[in-house]
Amino acid sequence: TPPEIIRNFCVIAHIDHGKSTLADRMLQATGVVEQRDMRAQYLDRMDIERERGITIKSQAVRMPWEVDGTAYALNMIDTPGHVDFTYEVSRSLAACEGALLLVDAAQGIEAQTLANLYLAMENDLAIIPVLNKIDLPAAQPEKYAEELANLVGGDPADVLLVSGKTGVGVEALLDRIVAEIPAPVGVADAPARAMIFDSVYDSYRGVVTYVRVVDGALTPRQRIQMMSTRASHELLEIGVISPEPTPTRGLGIGEVGYLITGVKDVRQSKVGDTVTDLAKPATTSLGGYEDPKPMVFSGLYPLDGSDYPVLRDALDKLKLNDAALVYEPETSAALGFGFRCGFLGLLHLEITRDRLEREFNLDLISTAPNVVYDVTLEDGKEVQVTNPSEFPTGGKVAQVCEPMVAATILAPSDFVGAIMELCQARRGQLQGMDYLSEDRVELRYRLPLAEIVFDFFDQLKSRTRGYASLDWKADGDEAADLVKVDILLQGEQVDAFSAITHRDKAYAYGVMMTAKLRQLIPRQQFEVPIQAAIGSRIIARENIRAIRKDVLAKCYGGDITRKRKLLEKQKEGKKRMKMVGRVEVPQEAFIAALSSD
Ligand code: GTP
Repeated sequence: TPPEIIRNFCVIAHIDHGKSTLADRMLQATGVVEQRDMRAQYLDRMDIERERGITIKSQAVRMPWEVDGTAYALNMIDTPGHVDFTYEVSRSLAACEGALLLVDAAQGIEAQTLANLYLAMENDLAIIPVLNKIDLPAAQPEKYAEELANLVGGDPADVLLVSGKTGVGVEALLDRIVAEIPAPVGVADAPARAMIFDSVYDSYRGVVTYVRVVDGALTPRQRIQMMSTRASHELLEIGVISPEPTPTRGLGIGEVGYLITGVKDVRQSKVGDTVTDLAKPATTSLGGYEDPKPMVFSGLYPLDGSDYPVLRDALDKLKLNDAALVYEPETSAALGFGFRCGFLGLLHLEITRDRLEREFNLDLISTAPNVVYDVTLEDGKEVQVTNPSEFPTGGKVAQVCEPMVAATILAPSDFVGAIMELCQARRGQLQGMDYLSEDRVELRYRLPLAEIVFDFFDQLKSRTRGYASLDWKADGDEAADLVKVDILLQGEQVDAFSAITHRDKAYAYGVMMTAKLRQLIPRQQFEVPIQAAIGSRIIARENIRAIRKDVLAKCYGGDITRKRKLLEKQKEGKKRMKMVGRVEVPQEAFIAALSSD
């Protein structure tokens, strides 16, 4: 396909602004998907994506569209909308020349609209502003067209009005894509260079890699090389998605498609890497790629200890399709054998846990999520702590650094006070504030990641009656006065409950956790103190009073078989108990204490 008739674009939008629905309508309008084959959110292939209504993995589809007698090939690259997957968004954007900036006509611009727009601008993309859902009775197209025009420059009259639901405006939108998005340019006789913007493991075909060719061409049977690792593979198949994978005789400049080499692990075909020709390799790769960096860690333990090998196999399988997932075995005195897993964010954690439970039939306990701490010891040694119970104690710690984020919050101006209060309580530093219009404000904060991973978004939503939106990105590390709080049962540390908190919040954590455990742990034959401690200093304490329960007393004078039955029943019950020192703790107590409320 000659580059002049190719248009590569993506759709960027805040979550739920209707990106997938609009993509469905474009597939129909261009005849790529017949009416009868249409199913909602065609591009979201994974079951879990369809159920949750979110896009996790980006996909690319090729659509024919004719303008003035010329047949164009439009490549639409779908991008994930959630902040955890920002790196994938930025790679998808780098594969395009233009972007549709899609905004819900009843909601206006939101935090992710801005974040994605800035990414698109960094990639020099042509931007077509589009208001979606204009069929909604609550739509305010005039108001938001103006807001959009202010943001991207241009006339409010140039903002397209569409509805992914009714299909209104979709053909005009396709025409605009052809007219306004530049054709790709590249060097035909240069060594081949193609950028990987997605890579998906398929149990039948191995890894399917999505690429955008920049220079030269890729053809079947060619030997290719991954520029970051120098690993080489034979191209077994190459083709385009329209809407199912269709093999072709090759991909040239500006073309978007997939390739299959038979590798079995997405780590061998990394998002952001450059594919070149082994025989005639390019000298420079296309922009750097980043190894995905886990930001949030949690311990995953099977409820039933004998499921440990199943969990290990399940993680190995998920890893084939998720380069960002990291894990290593760990043992907890309280929870047994499990894995410490690293995730891009909380959503990534939730999705992974969900898939493990659902696809591999596992019941799991996950420990409270935590971030990574860089600890410098008095002797100058540095350690990375991903598990709070391994945090060095005593006078050995010189400095602790925690990861920070740059957060953008958009909300109606009435809520500025409530938002500032929340951010201050979370140790946030205000960086700036702008009014997008007279009643909408953008607040920029620098916050510790640890303060937002847990319930920040929920709190933000409830304090702004659902109107605020949030986006954030990693923003370096910063030293802070952090301490480890341990929880002790009868003097024995319970590793799963150790937490790293700011010194000012340690007391509150200790009081909360000891009170919670007092509720959850049944009384024993002896008194059980529950303590929270920083090092050897106790900061909170509760007591579980002793009971004297003599089960055999009930059987006084009774026959021996009844006694035995009773004793056996007791033993049964003990199986689901974990021993912490001499204290029997039902597993449910651990689960309940670890679940957030
Ligand atoms: P993510 O993939 O999670 O980013 O969401 P999305 O932006 O793809 O949104 P999606 O297409 O899933 O639509 C979100 C919700 O809005 C769904 O309930 C849709 O039915 C609804 N919706 C989408 N487009 C329209 C529209 O044009 N009009 C109306 N009334 N509803 C729409």
